[in-house]
Amino acid sequence: MKEKYIIKTYGCQMNEHDSEILRYSLEELGYQETDNYEDAKIIIFNTCAIRENAENKVYGNLGWLKGNEKYDDKIICVCGCMMQSNEIRKYILDKYINVKIVFGTNNLDNFKDILKRHLITGERIIEISDKNKYTNTTFNAIRPYEFKSFVNITYGCNNFCTYCIVPYTRGRESSRDLEDIVNEVEALVNDGVKEITLLGQNVNSYGKTLEPKRSFTELLIELNKIRNLKRIRFMTPHPRDIKNDFLELYGKLDKLMPQLHLPLQSGSDKILKDMNRHYSTEKYLDIVRKAREINPDISISTDIIVGYPTETEEDFKKTLDMVHEVRYDSAFTFIFSPRPHTPAAKLEMLDEDVVKNRFNRLTELMNEIQYENQLKTIGKSYEVLVESFDKEVGTAEGRNPQGRLVVFDGNPLQVGRIVEVEIEKINTFTSFGRLV
Ligand code: 5AD
Ligand code: SF4
Repeated sequence: MKEKYIIKTYGCQMNEHDSEILRYSLEELGYQETDNYEDAKIIIFNTCAIRENAENKVYGNLGWLKGNEKYDDKIICVCGCMMQSNEIRKYILDKYINVKIVFGTNNLDNFKDILKRHLITGERIIEISDKNKYTNTTFNAIRPYEFKSFVNITYGCNNFCTYCIVPYTRGRESSRDLEDIVNEVEALVNDGVKEITLLGQNVNSYGKTLEPKRSFTELLIELNKIRNLKRIRFMTPHPRDIKNDFLELYGKLDKLMPQLHLPLQSGSDKILKDMNRHYSTEKYLDIVRKAREINPDISISTDIIVGYPTETEEDFKKTLDMVHEVRYDSAFTFIFSPRPHTPAAKLEMLDEDVVKNRFNRLTELMNEIQYENQLKTIGKSYEVLVESFDKEVGTAEGRNPQGRLVVFDGNPLQVGRIVEVEIEKINTFTSFGRLV
């Protein structure tokens, strides 16, 4: 019987994709995936450092494994963004002696060697590289869905928003060659992929450091030409680098899905400045206006941080005003979390109750608006790429072009296909409809 592995992934889609790459390496070595810790010989935590609660989940898991002798002979590995911070890595290595292998975000390519070395020597292995070296690498990955895939286009980040740890964990920004990306997507499409999600910390700055210079607009135009590719999505743009030629693509490229995730972070120009975001609310609203002018069906979503140390009640009200003005289709809202190395972590934190109160007010408003927006979709039809079928209840679910989850009475043969669904009912986060 094959030995088993389990990978627990925290954080963003880039981390999810890294886990898919690790899966490929493990299966090449003959291991098989399980969702049960007890059955696994190899346990991997692919960690995220973006907020303290993401970190705490990892400590929680390492803690209960350490306290349980059933797990003494397991090979516990910790990788991902937390490992790129010297302090956090040292803390884990000192406190959790059950951790046998530690490696960083730039050591995916030699994971197989690291594991083999551990198996031979039994020694604890630590491999961390600070440099992004994957710009010329095309990785194999095991995708959870046959018909959709992540594709990295940039690594790292040069923005240095004052609250964010990413530039310290993922290093300086570098872009993959345009031809390599196109080749990878072509290969994926030949393998049955219909939808790709391009990944980068700031996709709109794609290609700036390449020789000759390339642009995100150019990349999207090239990818749109690939026959049999149906849908292009991406994560995440940065308002500071969004230009008109990019927005115009929403009216030109049939495969570019009408979805724009545009992190706002705060609706106060003063706080945006404090956060080193390099755009004003005016520029932001201008982008939203243009995007909607070009494609009125575009869905706009965002990320907002509440409780940045210099945020006053007045500043927070400006965030609420922006939410009223933009009327987002969905949003991720976060409470500010001080992160090691970042300038904002040196500032005095706001009172916890004040921040919680603001967070609740924001979430309530966001949900209200999201619900009202969705009410307007009742009676409309959307193309849905079906992701799964639940045989117990006979429903299928998938995503419409705007990225919204749609559930309908379906059948298993529809998985991986694009079907037309008319929306009949909605709640804040899901739409329900029938095949047309
Ligand atoms: N505290 C809270 N939220 C944060 N984010 C990034 N860093 C922090 C932090 N220190 C949020 C931002 C970003 C999203 C991925 O996570 O909103 O867009
Ligand atoms: Fe992703 Fe950032 Fe978390 Fe790393 S720290 S997993 S890049 S969100």
